[in-house]
Amino acid sequence: MAKRIFSGIQPSGIIHIGNYLGAIKQWVELQNNPPTGEDEAIFCIVDLHAITVRQNPEQLRKNTLSAAAWYIACGINPQKSDIFIQSTRPEHTELAWILSCYTQIGELARMTQYKEKTQKLQNDLGDTGFIVKAAPSAGLLTYPTLMAADILLYQTTTVPVGEDQVQHVELTRDIAKRFNNLYGQTFTIPDYSTKISGKRIMALDDPSKKMSKSAASEYNYMALSDSPEKIRQKIRKAVTDSGTQVKYEKDQPAISNLLNIHSEISGKEVAELEDEFSSKNYGEFKEALADTIISHLAPIQSKYNSLMQSPTELEKILKAGSEKVASTAQKTLSDVKTKIGLLNL
Ligand code: AMP
Ligand code: TRP
Repeated sequence: MAKRIFSGIQPSGIIHIGNYLGAIKQWVELQNNPPTGEDEAIFCIVDLHAITVRQNPEQLRKNTLSAAAWYIACGINPQKSDIFIQSTRPEHTELAWILSCYTQIGELARMTQYKEKTQKLQNDLGDTGFIVKAAPSAGLLTYPTLMAADILLYQTTTVPVGEDQVQHVELTRDIAKRFNNLYGQTFTIPDYSTKISGKRIMALDDPSKKMSKSAASEYNYMALSDSPEKIRQKIRKAVTDSGTQVKYEKDQPAISNLLNIHSEISGKEVAELEDEFSSKNYGEFKEALADTIISHLAPIQSKYNSLMQSPTELEKILKAGSEKVASTAQKTLSDVKTKIGLLNL
């Protein structure tokens, strides 16, 4: 059976190497080596998910185009894959509403990401340095039903995401099965394979937390846009453990994370790297890691810069992508509406 691959990233700021190694790099591999040889891949920029937390409008517009440029610079080829902006296809919000009527509040409130994001909102330090308690929006809670709509509209078979999104894909499967049980076969049950998901990349300044674009300090993450000097500085400043050996150990989370990053970027096994650096100290390993990241990102950054010179070209690609995926989205939505008793006039 032909597979349909669907994934997305929020245009809510920088794109970091966690997004790249956990998601985009996998997408490019799937696009270039499709598992069944006749697969279709759709990559979405999920701006409606981004607005579940407050965004600056001007910045959001800029980040949306910039996300598209990063997708392409990293190797997503618009000739082979469809790239589009979520909010340009109204079927996503329509189906999301319908699915929210088939999802329990308890299921949504149990999601780890929801719990983390609400906690963060409630502990945010405002500009004044005082804690400003913000109440979580309903959108933050129903976020997974919109993600389920994204996936199910296209009869997606495979969802390549980082490990932190697996819980949302599992909920999508539950919702789809529930709907199919009630109304007969409507949605393809999407699968994710941990093999096609990259490992979780942890924060450079705190290896107990995942690397995150909404972190308070820029030393948490490595942005794809970081200059060579910045990359070297961030790696030098990255926390290390109390040991001295470049070894992957459970109780040495910081060096293990750096080894992971090296391995995912260089394609070398962790064991091979442990061997290579067995007589080297943390400082020497960090210099080598910085070199590896800098040379890997250089061609990607230069492609990104040239794409950002022609925003109208990018807009054209995004419009074409949106038109290309329209018929599948409309077909699924129309089927759903008919099945639940809405008049499809
Ligand atoms: P987000 O930044 O939440 O829009 O995430 C976009 C994609 O990047 C998702 O597939 C995430 O699973 C993945 N991702 C985000 N942060 C990390 C991380 N620290 N490590 C690995 N993957 C990540
Ligand atoms: N929630 C995902 C994230 O933050 C982004 C996303 C939205 C997504 N819709 C999706 C990922 C559909 C895969 C499929 O990473």
